[in-house]
Amino acid sequence: MAAHGIPFATLIDPGVDLEGAELARDIIVYQNATIGPQVSIGEASAIFMGAVVGHESQLSRCCVVAANAVLNARVQLGDGVYVGSNASILPEVKVGAWATIAAGSMVMQNVPAGATLTGVPGKIVYRLSQEELAMRTAEAKPVALRQEAGSRVA
Ligand SMILES: CC(C)(COP(=O)(O)OP(=O)(O)OC[C@H]1O[C@@H](n2cnc3c(N)ncnc32)[C@H](O)[C@@H]1OP(=O)(O)O)[C@@H](O)C(=O)NCCC(=O)NCCS
Repeated sequence: MAAHGIPFATLIDPGVDLEGAELARDIIVYQNATIGPQVSIGEASAIFMGAVVGHESQLSRCCVVAANAVLNARVQLGDGVYVGSNASILPEVKVGAWATIAAGSMVMQNVPAGATLTGVPGKIVYRLSQEELAMRTAEAKPVALRQEAGSRVA
């Protein structure tokens, strides 16, 4: 553990407001991002410039929140969710693993795993097959195992 309880491999740009979030290893938070209170962010996730992660939101492993996207309060993202720039996710929405939220979209209700959602209000335009979902989950496992091993060493 490094100072302030921030895990060793995590990079937090100067000026980021963390507000007491719980961060796993190997996270990048770029400048001007805001992470609300009681947020948790899983391994290997990245929060880009100006993005907002609202209070009590939970991000699983390998999530990307692109520039200026807004996750309102208590949003839940599954493994590998990609949120495009300027997208907005309303409070308490759950986004399933490996879903993609297109840039500029407005997400008003839960999104199933593997769906691609575009527009305002967001509509599903594509879904990964069960095989593709299983493959992505299997590919993500080595990352998780490596991080587990790393955290035993740290
Ligand atoms: C969602 C996304 C991943 C889809 O990419 P793709 O699989 O290559 O899809 P396509 O470009 O072929 O578009 C598929 C359909 O979705 C529509 N679409 C794509 N992106 C859209 C968007 N942001 N808003 C509304 N509609 C969109 C396209 O118009 C197309 O519609 P059509 O089938 O009626 O012609 C991509 O458009 C996107 O938004 N990427 C995020 C970019 C970003 O935020 N980068 C971060 C920089 S920090």
